[in-house]
Amino acid sequence: MFRPLVICMVLLLMPVLAIAHGKATGIVKERMDQMVTLKDAMKTLKDELAPGGSYDTARVTEAARIVERHSGEAMTDKFPKGSTQHSKALPNVWTDGGRFAGLAGELESYAAAMVMAAQNGATAPANRGILSIFSAAPSPEELSRLHPFEAFKAMADVCSACHRGFRMKGP
Ligand code: HEC
Repeated sequence: MFRPLVICMVLLLMPVLAIAHGKATGIVKERMDQMVTLKDAMKTLKDELAPGGSYDTARVTEAARIVERHSGEAMTDKFPKGSTQHSKALPNVWTDGGRFAGLAGELESYAAAMVMAAQNGATAPANRGILSIFSAAPSPEELSRLHPFEAFKAMADVCSACHRGFRMKGP
């Protein structure tokens, strides 16, 4: 006799749990959505470049352009001071804003390099290992010679580096 009641309660609770993560509104919600857009674009790139992937120039270009469009200032603009409600952004986004913006800018550069690499038709798998990523900021010349694999690796490294330094851990 209690069972239906319990089931009803569970059903009622489910939507609440589902939106717990999605409480953010306004600019915080916008930047979360933007990050999810980045995640989807990276997934497309990963699938394209994976062994057995199609290396479709148009798809690689489009996904890399999405990353390019949503990084750099388009990213930092979504982190105005005080926008911390329901956010996982760490306070050093604002106290170490130079480094934060630097990483957002690096993502933009690597995504642009990926667009260039795809346009050059260099979408076949590299027959050399992924270069160890630069210790200093790469020159435009170096960027223009990046292989798509290297550009992808660099982009993914920037995502991780920024999350390690500027985003709270946990679910
Ligand atoms: C310059 C720093 C920076 C870069 C670069 C960056 N992120 Fe983020 N990302 C953040 C921060 C900070 C948050 C937390 C935002 C918040 O909760 O307000 C976040 C959150 C996320 C989230 C969670 C969104 C949600 O729904 O809560 C995903 C997914 C994500 N990033 C993916 C990516 C991917 C993929 C890349 C690389 C292509 C990337 N990010 C690059 C700083 C960055």
